[in-house]
This record gives sequence, C-alpha cells and structure tokens, in this order.
Amino acid sequence: MACSTPTILQALSTAVLTLDGGDRIQTANPAAEAIFEQSASRLLGQSLGKLCGPNNPLHTILQQARQARQRYSAREIRLTLPWNSSVITIDCTLTPEETPDEPPGLVVEIVQIDRLLRLARDNHLLARQKSIKRMIRGLAHEIKNPLGGLRGAAQLLERELGRGEMREFTRIITHEADRLSQLVDRMTGGYTPLQYAPLNIHALLEHVRRVLQIEVRENLSFCRDYDPSLPDILGHKESLIQALFNILRNAIEALGGKGRIHLRTRIERHLTIAETHHRQVVRVDIEDNGPGISPAVMDNIFEPLITDKADGSGLGLTITRDIIHKHHGLVEYCSHPGCTCFSLYLPIASSHGEVEVSG
Ligand SMILES: Nc1ncnc2c1ncn2[C@@H]1O[C@H](COP(=O)(O)OP(=O)(O)OP(=O)(O)O)[C@@H](O)[C@H]1O
Ligand SMILES: [Mg+2]
Repeated sequence: MACSTPTILQALSTAVLTLDGGDRIQTANPAAEAIFEQSASRLLGQSLGKLCGPNNPLHTILQQARQARQRYSAREIRLTLPWNSSVITIDCTLTPEETPDEPPGLVVEIVQIDRLLRLARDNHLLARQKSIKRMIRGLAHEIKNPLGGLRGAAQLLERELGRGEMREFTRIITHEADRLSQLVDRMTGGYTPLQYAPLNIHALLEHVRRVLQIEVRENLSFCRDYDPSLPDILGHKESLIQALFNILRNAIEALGGKGRIHLRTRIERHLTIAETHHRQVVRVDIEDNGPGISPAVMDNIFEPLITDKADGSGLGLTITRDIIHKHHGLVEYCSHPGCTCFSLYLPIASSHGEVEVSG
C-alpha cells in the first residue's frame, strides 16, 4: 500500500502510525520513520508489536486500548529496539477507530521523550548538586585545617631528624597530606571566578585531541566532523580544556585502547538552559563505540565519587559538569552498548563579548 500521509502529518515531530485490526502498520509519517529507522514503505504491513521485539510493553498497551475501545495514554514506556539494542523512552497515545470492525484499527501517536527527561534530570541534579557541594565545602574546611597542622608538624619533625632514614616517613606524611589537600580542592571545584573570552571550540578540541593522540595506541582513532561555520563561544580556556579532557579520557578508558572516537560540532537553535532561552548554542558531541556506561552507575555518573574503575576517583564528570554549568551550558549523555555520546551545549559569544541570549 502506498504511503499517503497528509502534509500536516509529514511536518509533525510526533510519530503517527495507523494500524489495522491485526496490528499491521497502514501508514507512518516521517517522525515514525526516524524512531523506527526504516522508511515508511518498509514499515507498511509490519506488525508494530513485533517490530519492537518480544516482551516489549507495547503489546499489552495495544491490546488494552483495543479492548477498552477508548483513547489510551501511557507515559514513560521504555522500549529496547531490537535492531540496535538501544533503549528509548516514549509517551504513547492510542486511539481506536470508530468502526464496528472487531478488533478495531488504531491511531498510534509516539513522542520520544529521552531528551526531555535528560533535561529534567539535569535540572534536578543541578539542585541536588548544589546542596551536595555545600556539604562538601563544609567538610573540606574541616579536613583542610587539621591537614595544615599535620603537614607543619611533619616538616618540623623532618628538620629535627636531620639526614636519618626516618625522614622518609615524614616525607610520606607531607606527600599524603598534599595529596589529600589536592583531592579536597578538586572536590570543591575551587572558588575563583573564571575570566571569560571568545573562544573557538575547534581550537580547544584539536588541542585536546593532539595531546591524547600521542598517548593512545594506533588502533584507537579519532574521527572529526566539525561545522566550520560555528561562531565563537564565551569561555574560560583552561577549564574548558579540562572538561574536554575528562570526557575524552573516559572514552579512551572505556575503549581499552581499541576503537573509534567521533568529535562532532553543530549549531543548535532555540534551546532553554537553566531557564534562559538561547537563540543558538554550540553543540559538541564526543561519541565512542565502547561497551557503554555500566547500568550500575548509569543514572549517577555526574555525582561525586561515582566510579566503576579500580583507580578512578569518580570526580572527572562532576568537575566537567561544574565547568559547563559555570559557562551557562549543559551537558547530557546517552549510552548503550557500542555507543556512548556526551553532548556539551555552550552559549555563543555575542558581538559585545557576552553570552548571547534570546532578545
Ligand atoms: N565513555 C564512557 N563509557 C563508559 N562508561 C563511562 C564513560 N564515561 C564515563 N563512564 C562511567 O562514568 C563513571 C564516572 O566517570 P568520572 O570521569 O566521573 O570518574 P572516573 O573516570 O571513574 O574517575 P576520574 O575521577 O579519575 O575521572 C566512570 O567510572 C565510568 O563508569
Ligand atoms: Mg574519568
């Protein structure tokens, strides 16, 4: 059957499909093609339930809507797409056709809400992180004071001990006290306000890539897909470099020395970040084809001390998020086996050297 979706359906960002009484797809608009990654002509005639794989919650929902013969909505359904194992979250509305046919056909509307959920999660985490940070700063103060005393006492002792081999022990005390003090500084993220200047994001990406390229082995490659027309962002060079390093190091560690990292830049229009609407922002994607973020840490990776590495401190991403927030930006991620992508959204610099917001 030919696909004859009216123009208005073509323009919708909501996926709309019509099903006959046997669940077979009769029509599908372009948004449905995008979700199911198949052209409308390939989707036609396939059973929607089967298309989404066995044991997916859509089976039950389709049945319930048909039995009730009423409009039926379901929110935050998680579907594992069988063709690439990715998990998407959808809101779904099913409207049975008003015909005497038994079972009736259905109109299915699907909105993929992963991005909205990630943005909501980001705002929620931002609030939580602020209170965690207050707690950490309080703790940091309590830890650093006695550390200073400890270090001072070790230095005095070292002078008393002259050249004896006991000096080795005082050095260990000083060294470990310094290490702890640095760790506390990293956790608090520093107090100094950053100085911002217009920056070319590609120059920063290239700097980080070149440094890392020297470290990694030959079977790890970087693919660059930069939009050369990107405007400058307003940023603090050193801290943005640190943020990029943290994400890229994680990707390299996840790949275990073998794989591919994509660096992609794009312009993104009309995005609201922390209640400020930006006409355009720069998006940087850092995507690796590693095993994906492990389910044990998946929802908490930006929180301090969350790590699944034997020698990890679990601070890399906490610091990264902090830096990006200081730039009035946003960082989000999606991950499934074979593909993990971190996206940074950074406001661009206006002609007056300020962050450009919508007027
Ligand atoms: N690209 C990735 N692929 C798979 N897992 C990742 C990726 N990036 C981050 N993670 C997960 O997120 C966790 C937190 O990362 P984060 O950078 O904050 O800490 P870390 O790398 O463990 O330690 P460090 O503080 O030394 O960076 C990691 O331990 C890892 O489990
Ligand atoms: Mg890390």
